[in-house]
Amino acid sequence: MVMGNVLTISGQKGGSGKSVTALNLAVSLALYKKKILLVDCDPQGSVTQWSGINAVGYPFDLSSVLSGKATIIEAIVNTQFNCLDILPAGFNLFPVASKLGRTVANEKILRLFLEDIEADYDYIIIDAPSSYGFLSVAALTAADWLIIAMCPRYNGFEDFRCLLQLIKYIRDTHETTLKIANILFNRCRSNMQINQFLADQSLSETRDLVAHTFIPEDETVKRAIEKKMPLALYDVKSPASSAYLSFAKEMVLVFKQN
Ligand SMILES: Nc1ncnc2c1ncn2[C@@H]1O[C@H](COP(=O)(O)OP(=O)(O)O)[C@@H](O)[C@H]1O
Ligand SMILES: [Mg+2]
Repeated sequence: MVMGNVLTISGQKGGSGKSVTALNLAVSLALYKKKILLVDCDPQGSVTQWSGINAVGYPFDLSSVLSGKATIIEAIVNTQFNCLDILPAGFNLFPVASKLGRTVANEKILRLFLEDIEADYDYIIIDAPSSYGFLSVAALTAADWLIIAMCPRYNGFEDFRCLLQLIKYIRDTHETTLKIANILFNRCRSNMQINQFLADQSLSETRDLVAHTFIPEDETVKRAIEKKMPLALYDVKSPASSAYLSFAKEMVLVFKQN
């Protein structure tokens, strides 16, 4: 793989669609035959549960790797998609992270583990947790690129400004070249709504970063979550599934240009 293809999905604090995006972008890229590792870096374990890998079962997870109980290779789970592997997580990531979080040097730990296997994948996609703490810093420190998931209904400005400060902290503290790949609007109705939101929130100068694709509000997203299936398996023709497939194409182009 080209160096620098670790992508973290971050965004507004809760419910902006980080996990929905991480899972469905990962699956869409895998359908385009890109070899993907999806890393669940949230003790909520959303992508772990929604991907359906619980049904297969797995002996280890990210907490096992971070606590030295398993190697990263042992903890990676193959999925029903040829090109998609998952490093799962669950609540036991929380105590492990609390312990590691006492030392700033540990913030690089995820990046160091991923370096061992990054040559095996075209892209590594990390689902970051909503709250700002050790795990979100570790997820950003591991990243070369950031996709910011935003929902035009929520108060975006404060969260966005806070995220920019966090990015600056990470660049300064860990000397990484963390770059924003783009801002993905989720749960929206039109480009006009996005422009209105950017204007209302005095974010117009970020227009250049906004992805051409946006993800519409679509009930199919909730139904696919209930069935623990990625959108492309549950209903590939749904508006949200089509949008994620377009976004995946857009991302491939973004990376080709860099
Ligand atoms: N495009 C969408 N259309 C409809 N509902 C959505 C969409 N995206 C997200 N949701 C809903 O919002 C919830 C929160 O999304 P999630 O990805 O868990 O956010 P985050 O990871 O940022 O906290 C999901 O459980 C789902 O019910
Ligand atoms: Mg989430």
